[in-house]
Amino acid sequence: MRRYKLQKIAELGNFENIIQFTDQPEHDDFRYYGTWAEDHFKNSNPISLELACGKGAYTLALAEKYADRNFIGVDMKGSRLWTGCVEAQKRGLTNVAFLRIEILNLAHYFSEGEIDEIWITFPDPFLKNGKIRKRLTATRYLAVYKHVIKEGASIHLKTDSNPLFDFSLKSLIENRCVIEEKIDDVYDDERLHEDLYIKTNYEKRHLADNRVIKYVRFSLAI
Ligand SMILES: C[S@@+](CC[C@H](N)C(=O)[O-])C[C@H]1O[C@@H](n2cnc3c(N)ncnc32)[C@H](O)[C@@H]1O
Repeated sequence: MRRYKLQKIAELGNFENIIQFTDQPEHDDFRYYGTWAEDHFKNSNPISLELACGKGAYTLALAEKYADRNFIGVDMKGSRLWTGCVEAQKRGLTNVAFLRIEILNLAHYFSEGEIDEIWITFPDPFLKNGKIRKRLTATRYLAVYKHVIKEGASIHLKTDSNPLFDFSLKSLIENRCVIEEKIDDVYDDERLHEDLYIKTNYEKRHLADNRVIKYVRFSLAI
């Protein structure tokens, strides 16, 4: 199993739709910094990020649905990103890219306000006390998002984890974020939110375990 993962990671080097931290040791000279749309996607369309994308379910589904937008899936696990890269190629999606980095380093790869939207899909809940600072809605991560996202643009969080959801709402309030919409049970809500019904790999497992999926959309304080 381990070898199989390593083989996938080795293959990433041949793909054109992924950029890895290993390709770019000098972060400040990153070749698409501030020019992702023009130089990588060859257009001037808005850019959405999917953070903690794993195999990139949201990146792929949204890219198919919104051909006039660009989507970048971000994760540090190469073997999971491999699936997203292969799938994007199979589906002929030219508005998809993947970035293999630690999310805390986003500001080295995107200029101020370069990003139009962020999705955070089923991030690890990091339930042990000592690991809470690794949660993707902790203050230090919100500060990074603030650097790269346009003023007032939306960030979407989907999770099955009550502790992570409660922590996130508290962190958003502490950081003076604007909570635009909150749904306590995505699949038992009167409002129709087509994009919320895209199911990631983890989500499918959680639904099979009868877990409730929660959602919040927010923007960062100015
Ligand atoms: C529970 S999985 C969810 C994957 C996918 N969104 C899904 O729902 O199937 C969480 C993912 O977040 C990634 N991750 C967690 N913290 C990260 C960080 N700080 N930087 C980059 N990736 C991170 C992990 O590598 C993992 O693939």
